[in-house]
Amino acid sequence: MTDSDQTAAGREPVGAAPSAGTPAGTAPGDGTPDETGVRDPAPAPAATPTPPASAPGSSPTPGTPATPRAQALPQVAADIAAGYAFTGPALELGALLWDGQCLADAPIRIPLSMLNRHGLVAGATGTGKTKTLQLISEQLSANGVPVFLADVKGDVSGISAPGKPGDKVAERSAQVGQEWEAAGFPCAFYGLGGIGPGIPLRATVTSFGPVLLSKVLQLNQTQEQSLSLIFHYADTKGLELYDLKDLRAVAGFLVSDVGKAELKGIGGLSPATAGVILRAITAFEQQGAASFFGEPEFDTSELVRLAPDGRGLVSVLELPAVQDKPQLFSTFLMWLLADLFHRLPEVGDVDRPKLVFFFDEAHLLFNGASKAFLESITQTVRLIRSKGVGIFFVTQTPKDVPGDVLAQLGNRVQHALRAFTPDDAKALKATVRTFPKSPYDLEELLTGLGTGEAVITVLSENGAPTPVAATRLRAPRSLMAPIDPAALDQAVNSSPLYARYAQAVDRESAFEKLSEAERKREETAVTEALDTAAPAPSPSPRKREASRDASLAEQVVGSGIFRSLARSVGTQLGREISRSLFGTRRR
Ligand SMILES: Nc1ncnc2c1ncn2[C@@H]1O[C@H](COP(=O)(O)OP(=O)(O)OP(=O)(O)O)[C@@H](O)[C@H]1O
Ligand SMILES: [Mg+2]
Repeated sequence: MTDSDQTAAGREPVGAAPSAGTPAGTAPGDGTPDETGVRDPAPAPAATPTPPASAPGSSPTPGTPATPRAQALPQVAADIAAGYAFTGPALELGALLWDGQCLADAPIRIPLSMLNRHGLVAGATGTGKTKTLQLISEQLSANGVPVFLADVKGDVSGISAPGKPGDKVAERSAQVGQEWEAAGFPCAFYGLGGIGPGIPLRATVTSFGPVLLSKVLQLNQTQEQSLSLIFHYADTKGLELYDLKDLRAVAGFLVSDVGKAELKGIGGLSPATAGVILRAITAFEQQGAASFFGEPEFDTSELVRLAPDGRGLVSVLELPAVQDKPQLFSTFLMWLLADLFHRLPEVGDVDRPKLVFFFDEAHLLFNGASKAFLESITQTVRLIRSKGVGIFFVTQTPKDVPGDVLAQLGNRVQHALRAFTPDDAKALKATVRTFPKSPYDLEELLTGLGTGEAVITVLSENGAPTPVAATRLRAPRSLMAPIDPAALDQAVNSSPLYARYAQAVDRESAFEKLSEAERKREETAVTEALDTAAPAPSPSPRKREASRDASLAEQVVGSGIFRSLARSVGTQLGREISRSLFGTRRR
């Protein structure tokens, strides 16, 4: 863990108002809406259209200094600003853009208590999505909320180091009314399966479960069900599935001559499908996937930790080294969530989340997902909220996210969209439809936003969507670039977690048990062959066949594996691993 050079004294106070003296900067050509461009978009399917949270001219809540000045704004802008005047702690996102101006006195914020109502950060390439999640993460950490970030492109590690001051940052912070001060935040860096920099993160096959595994093996629905049966078989027989070779061994056993009687006993699993699954596992291992599965398994409760100074720990999963395995890493992120779900207690509504999880490149998770998989995602997103976990999906357009999931993402930061192709235009229209009714011409606005600007609507403290607000975002206080690789390695090696997870461990499990059984079987076969080597009247070919079958059966029944299987049937029944969401192992 790198604790940054930040001290607790550098904590950003929650709900801090932007400096009142900052003049509202003008931003020529920033693509903000024209007040005349008012339109009446179709009602949003996802969020209920709502009027601004407070009625025009209604008196602002005490303790929100921005609002009295906001009354000097044009009425529509004042109404929008009033919708962001929360009473409790809130994160500062930026300032309202209205009529070509950035209004420093109209801060756009998100209540800390609403972060477990999930969110979506969307926008075309290079529009500022990553910086937005950096900005939100910093403030969460400063407020004692742990954060998980998937660093797909390797540009997030900078959150651990103070940012560099410069003209651009100075200009932006003046425009949005931010007292910018460089700060780094306490981070732990992880790497998937020990590939690339980071504390190695692994999962056991058994806890990953058959549904997630089917996704990475790209199995179809029938094969997915068959894989579940193989898991069920291994679970009930006490064959531990820790790594991929355990699973390969069990699948291999079931399609072998010896195991085919067992296979028959598992209703609904055909030898052909078991064979397909076996080949898929083998191919997957050959692609280098073996290192992601096994022990020591990552304890996901590590993600819900505070730094010694009380700030939330930012866990950064470095993914650039596994960029060529998008199915794998996106599914792995889902495992982290599903596992956390099992571990965390129910907390109901909280004044601040226990963890906020940023799920970058979220489209990869949904692409080609089976119905069962999508249902599991929807359910996880729905249920994890009451465990105090907020999930922010980060992707290009809301269209990447299935409707059932999108409907649960209460907080929206939509960066600019392009409209170059007919497909872009369609995505743009679809995006507009997912926003609450607003006075903006959203189509025009969304294509005209500059870098680091976004259309925002969040859930206010009473759970109603805030008015749609074009916003110029604050600048992150930490480094907007990767940290030096040597610094990253140093941070990783000095982490106490590194020693715990660095070395893969291979305990006795299904593979070893089945290999041992195989070895014994061969031994018996050789002994028997020697015993029967004495010449005897040779039987007819048919009889020879029959006696070989019989001796095989005896070998199986007499073999260690069969005895231990038979024993485990007796002792392990009822102790079957309990699986829930995604078939992941229940803790
Ligand atoms: N809030 C911000 N404050 C200051 N600069 C910003 C901000 N947002 C974006 N930028 C500038 O825009 C650049 C691109 O932003 P960012 O990397 O966040 O885009 P992105 O949407 O994540 O792109 P990609 O889709 O390629 O990952 C940044 O390197 C930074 O210079
Ligand atoms: Mg990015």
